Amino acid sequence: MTTRILTGITTTGTPHLGNYAGAIRPAIVASRAPDADSFYFLADYHALIKCDDAQRIQRSRLEIAATWLACGLDPERVTFYRQSDIPEIPELTWLLTCVAGKGLLNRAHAYKASVDKNVEAGEDPDAGVTMGLFSYPVLMAADILMFNAHKVPVGRDQIQHVEMARDIGQRFNHLFGGGKELFTLPEAVIEESVATLPGLDGRKMSKSYDNTIPLFGTAKQLKDAIARIVTDSRLPGEPKDADNSHLFTLYQAFATPEQSAQFRADLVAGLAWGEAKQRLFALLDAELGEARERYNALIAKPAELEDILQAGAAKARKIATPFLGELREAVGLRSFRSEVKSEKAAKKKGGKAARFASFREQDGSFRFRFFAADGEELLLSRPFQDPKAAGAITQRLVAQGPDALELRADEGDQFTLWLDGACVADSPAFPDEQALEAGMLRLREALASLVE
Ligand code: TRP
Repeated sequence: MTTRILTGITTTGTPHLGNYAGAIRPAIVASRAPDADSFYFLADYHALIKCDDAQRIQRSRLEIAATWLACGLDPERVTFYRQSDIPEIPELTWLLTCVAGKGLLNRAHAYKASVDKNVEAGEDPDAGVTMGLFSYPVLMAADILMFNAHKVPVGRDQIQHVEMARDIGQRFNHLFGGGKELFTLPEAVIEESVATLPGLDGRKMSKSYDNTIPLFGTAKQLKDAIARIVTDSRLPGEPKDADNSHLFTLYQAFATPEQSAQFRADLVAGLAWGEAKQRLFALLDAELGEARERYNALIAKPAELEDILQAGAAKARKIATPFLGELREAVGLRSFRSEVKSEKAAKKKGGKAARFASFREQDGSFRFRFFAADGEELLLSRPFQDPKAAGAITQRLVAQGPDALELRADEGDQFTLWLDGACVADSPAFPDEQALEAGMLRLREALASLVE
């Protein structure tokens, strides 16, 4: 059995070396496993939550798409698409929004962090909080559930969102599945072994610390960034403490064990920091040089990227479109055509149901009639002053079934129905005793059909 792996990449910003080592590289390696059925997509609807700069959104989508392809993601092997090219995703988002508890979303970390910050600053708790931010986990649940992903590789900050997708999916299954699992319940996977790269200043490499090394800048940009890596002040010839040097950590993330051992030995032996930086540059340039060329070629031909992503969207929608159709059926958004069909089919089989019909007399009293499936009138009730009394009798008849019917045929050509010692309904007149008995039998059968 194949495992369906799905993950989204929010399209804000330009990928840096930390993204590459922490997410892109391991994901591409995983996508090559023989039993993997991978779905990677640009979460550009999610990007709109954080960013209202249209230019930046567009630029980032292009750069991130080119990055993944340049790094070796094979769009033939995996399904690679933009979230915003799949209209089924926002549609599913609404279906899920209608079952997602507001209380559940109140607990989402990202939303709570914004509220806490506002409260601390003495602002209104919801200042600057959009519905997009609040509903973020529902959109993410739709991303995941749309394709019935088993595994969702994410960073630690996203585990809660995957768990919410499970909750929401489970709720939906329970409400609309009719015992069937409509949605596969996903699991978050955290790659423990992947490197969290230090940035130029030794803190985690992150755009928010402004300490990143660009992934696909020019060779000169790479060299300049490496020159800014902070080291201690030990002079050339002095032994260096490799294990406490983030320059060494960066080197290790891309080197073979042998290269790393050699580098460590050289540092301990007094290798100058300037020299060490040149070696790191050479290593990174060798690792990324070819991919950089592919990247630049892709960025230069955005129309080709568009074609690749459109093909990916078509592949994804082959799954999403019919599945969403099933989900619409499940919640009761169905074509009226199927309604007509099933009524006709029922008629053909003579399966139109027996039924009660209540009505009001001129004098203000209430009565009901009981009809067989073929429309024959089987009973006419006595008049009731209270419509509830009439309703209670029809309910009791259905609840108790034909065995509880007390029928009396002492009026000649009619029979009567009795409940608790009171006559509550009369049959029509029959031409003879045989017809009357057959009429009683039809009444019992009609009532039995309702009970079933
Ligand atoms: N929220 C994720 C992040 O910021 C991106 C994302 C969107 C995602 N939809 C997803 C990840 C679905 C996994 C599955 O990293």
